[in-house]
Amino acid sequence: MRTPIIAGNWKMHKTVAEAVELSQGVCDAVESISGVDVVLCPTFTALSAVKDIVEGTKVGLGAQNMYWEIQGAYTGEISPVMLAELCDYVILGHSERRQYFGETDEGVNNKIKAALTHSLIPIVCVGEDLTQNEAGETETFVGGQVKAAFDGLSPDEAAQVIVAYEPIWAIGTGKTADPDMANGIIKNSIRGVLADLYGDNIAEQIRVQYGGSVKPNNIAGFMAQPDIDGALVGGASLKVDSFLALVEASA
Ligand code: PGA
Repeated sequence: MRTPIIAGNWKMHKTVAEAVELSQGVCDAVESISGVDVVLCPTFTALSAVKDIVEGTKVGLGAQNMYWEIQGAYTGEISPVMLAELCDYVILGHSERRQYFGETDEGVNNKIKAALTHSLIPIVCVGEDLTQNEAGETETFVGGQVKAAFDGLSPDEAAQVIVAYEPIWAIGTGKTADPDMANGIIKNSIRGVLADLYGDNIAEQIRVQYGGSVKPNNIAGFMAQPDIDGALVGGASLKVDSFLALVEASA
């Protein structure tokens, strides 16, 4: 049985003071809830302060990006060694990184390998844009992203990765994928591709989240799906009440 995981991707929101307040609120609210993993992903600047809050609680900490080299002349970048001091998870290959910052499948694959080497659990994002969706290319495109992301990973490494299926047209738009359709993509193009690469046993262990306008009023539909193991949440993770409702609905 896979434990569901709800991760809050705070994106470029919250000062350190605001991040402390929100993480404290989340920790207090979810403390008595079991049967679901909870992860907060603040900005780099707030990681250290939020670490102090989540330490000793059931809430995990993640970063939103990472470079793959361990150190060196890479102005503005953060290494896996640095993140490993602070967090357990790292979001990699988010569509906003791919769209606005030119991240490629190859770079995402390098980052996944570097994260695993330093004991960080990657949350790897895949998903099609609206044009691909309307052209019926979703399964091929997402399957290709999954193959590229897992290229060269051993079965043991692969089993640790969390995948987030996030259709780009559903992110921050208030439009969600139909839960049945999302489950179908995950079943065929994510778990199916992983089964081809690693066999059914590993493919069944890997957790796959849905992401894209997940809200308290629509989470139940996603959590009812057999292949969806939680959510990667942007907007609704920025307030204690809405985030708590998502955690409760997944427990
Ligand atoms: P959203 O973002 O919940 O605001 O749509 C999800 C994400 O980008 O991870």
